[in-house]
Amino acid sequence: MTKPNASAVLSSEYPDREIGRRVLFVASCGSTNDLLADPGGGYVHGDVLWAGEQTAGRGRYGRSWVSPAGALPFSILLTTREAQPQKLPLLFALGLVRWLEMKKLAAAIKWPNDVYLDGKKLCGILTESRMENGAWRLIVGVGLNVAVAFPPELAGTAISLREAGLELDPAAALAELLPHLDAVWREYHQRGWTALRDQIEFRLLWRGEAVTVREGDRTLGGTLRGLDADGNLFLDETVVRAGELVRVSSG
Ligand code: BTN
Repeated sequence: MTKPNASAVLSSEYPDREIGRRVLFVASCGSTNDLLADPGGGYVHGDVLWAGEQTAGRGRYGRSWVSPAGALPFSILLTTREAQPQKLPLLFALGLVRWLEMKKLAAAIKWPNDVYLDGKKLCGILTESRMENGAWRLIVGVGLNVAVAFPPELAGTAISLREAGLELDPAAALAELLPHLDAVWREYHQRGWTALRDQIEFRLLWRGEAVTVREGDRTLGGTLRGLDADGNLFLDETVVRAGELVRVSSG
């Protein structure tokens, strides 16, 4: 049964940051995205809310998202007038990948919203948005596998930082990651999307390889070329706005 959303407590404050100025913690909630979206919750722009446990975590396409022990589920609230929500998962994926590069781990961004390591899913990002009084209220939900021990049936497709040799608990991982998410968000506003788009493109999973993108009952095939000006995918010369990316196996 889904537990009702609990209230969160302030776990730390960083006055110099925009993202993560306030970091809030809740031991257990349904979904951090839902909790942070509550207009009566008193949450403000830049708040980060993380949970010890989610009982009704959500992924893309209405799938459920399980956060076992060792997982780090958290969400970021952004209120902005000019954001294009489809860029945000890519932007924050870049922040995560840059952090891992500092740790000597080469992760890749799987368009449109995942981070992969060693060919397996390390992190999923779910952005939800709505217009409120002329401004976007955006929730960026991040599910990062920090120290999850996956059962054999998932071990071929999912990976944790721990398996890659990075020993952290979820709280420490969040504390290390947040400055990188704050930095990428500021850069987006100071330097614009184009400079970051190139960096994201450079780190795209399966760039130059044969892939398919499936959306509903439509499947498109081609070579993954890169990103257009809005963060959509170029499959050869075709622009793809949404869908599930799969690599065409070579053998
Ligand atoms: C996906 O890969 O489909 C996206 C998964 C996003 C999961 C995170 S966990 C924190 C936040 N709360 C949710 O209910 N979902 C996101």
